[in-house]
Amino acid sequence: MAASYQFIIFGATGDLTHRKLMPAFYNLYRQQQLPENLDIIAIGRRDKDSYIYRKEVYASIKKHSHYELDEDSWPEFAGRIKYLRFDFRQDEGYKMLKEELKNGACWIYYLAVAPEYFALIVDKLEREGLAGEGVENTRVVIEKPFGKNLETARQLNEQISRVFPEEDIYRIDHYLGKEMLQNIMVIRFANSLFEPLWNNKHIDNIQIVSSEVGGVGDRGNYYDQSGALRDMVQNHMMQLLALTAMEPPVDLETDSIRNEKVKVLKALDMDFENINEYVVRGQYGPGEINGVQVPAYREENRVPGDSSTETFVALKLYINNLRWSGVPFYIKTGKRLTHKSTEIIVEFKGGAHPVYLTENRNIMSNLLVIRIQPLEGIFFQFNAKRPGTDNIILPVQMDYCQNCQLGENSPEAYERLIHDILKGDATLFTHWDEVEYSWRFIDRIAEAWSREDVDFPNYPAGSSGPVEAKQLLERDGRHWWKLEGFHGEHLILKAKGVDNYEI
Ligand code: BG6
Repeated sequence: MAASYQFIIFGATGDLTHRKLMPAFYNLYRQQQLPENLDIIAIGRRDKDSYIYRKEVYASIKKHSHYELDEDSWPEFAGRIKYLRFDFRQDEGYKMLKEELKNGACWIYYLAVAPEYFALIVDKLEREGLAGEGVENTRVVIEKPFGKNLETARQLNEQISRVFPEEDIYRIDHYLGKEMLQNIMVIRFANSLFEPLWNNKHIDNIQIVSSEVGGVGDRGNYYDQSGALRDMVQNHMMQLLALTAMEPPVDLETDSIRNEKVKVLKALDMDFENINEYVVRGQYGPGEINGVQVPAYREENRVPGDSSTETFVALKLYINNLRWSGVPFYIKTGKRLTHKSTEIIVEFKGGAHPVYLTENRNIMSNLLVIRIQPLEGIFFQFNAKRPGTDNIILPVQMDYCQNCQLGENSPEAYERLIHDILKGDATLFTHWDEVEYSWRFIDRIAEAWSREDVDFPNYPAGSSGPVEAKQLLERDGRHWWKLEGFHGEHLILKAKGVDNYEI
């Protein structure tokens, strides 16, 4: 690690800084993982001084940090934060910033601002001699969205990489900071049980699902330009897919892992000419969630009343390589669904001995579920005999719940990501190639959509999405698996169209 660090946050009065970044810094501080010689320069346009800003950070940390705020050590932590008031669109502020930056320190610029300002800030940093040629030891951290399509992503990338080399650009995909995402590779490659079966010979299909109960909240402005395809599928869902499907890397170096992920993204395939056979989009109408009436997407704040932006996507794709040829990957994500969870469900092919495939025998597929959130863990379903003389076979389940057994110890995604930025480890950040190939695929879907009209809204808030999403799998003789219940409680795995069964 460098001798000292200066973490410079653009957009320091915004929501992201208060809800995620400052609590993450504080948690790292409490775990003694924050370098002693690190200070934070918080840049904002609002009129306040460091004293007032620290008080606001104090309130945010109290609210959002998973460590109780410790009054004794607070002054030491707060003393590292300095508020610098300036408008980052104007040159003058960068001169002020220059005076704060110490020679020899590692300068990390965190752009927690709207994406249209990324290039502008990078440009001004360069002009003031705070980044670029001849300036050592700088990093830039960028939040999504990284472009709106391949073309704009490329432009943005060119603008940023003119000043920062690829290895100093940290593109955040906060899903990569989630504990169970990091566990996917371990589960796959550290267990002799799974890897030999991880291919088209033994796997029938893989479902990657991220459901949300929440709506767009006050992000209507951004979200309406983006929609679920760009907001969730292009980044988070593609990362989940790449980690699930990639070949084993030759080692655990950043580039080796990224190269394998890129190969998956390059091999994505679907019939874009028949897009409706492969992709379903939806938008929520009004509905009821947990007994509370919620408005339609079109009635949300800062969303046009005739918006045709999708809040739900379900799709089927293939990966054109030897391992996955013929195996459908089903992806589903949406807002205002029945519950909040993210899971990867691997359904194995039925391989039961024919003597067991007789009446009264409820043999079901072996399922491996990697539970990303809210419960973190692994769930496995297999068939076993029910005790007794009637030889009934039932699917039974084993459920390893990491955060139930090991406690709520998983670091928040941002904690892990900030920690890695300081270490200079970019493994959990998105490389330009990943962004590029992901956009290539997403653009083709968006382009096919642009040729067709939509009839929105097409699912009520609080439901499981449009009926066409169900039909997408039914046409293939499959169904979405749904994990219900909680660890320690009675667990039922059920699928629509399949009778519930109980253990
Ligand atoms: C963000 C999206 O990247 O991820 C949001 O912009 C979405 O729309 C969020 O709600 C979901 O993240 P998580 O960690 O709550 O699953």
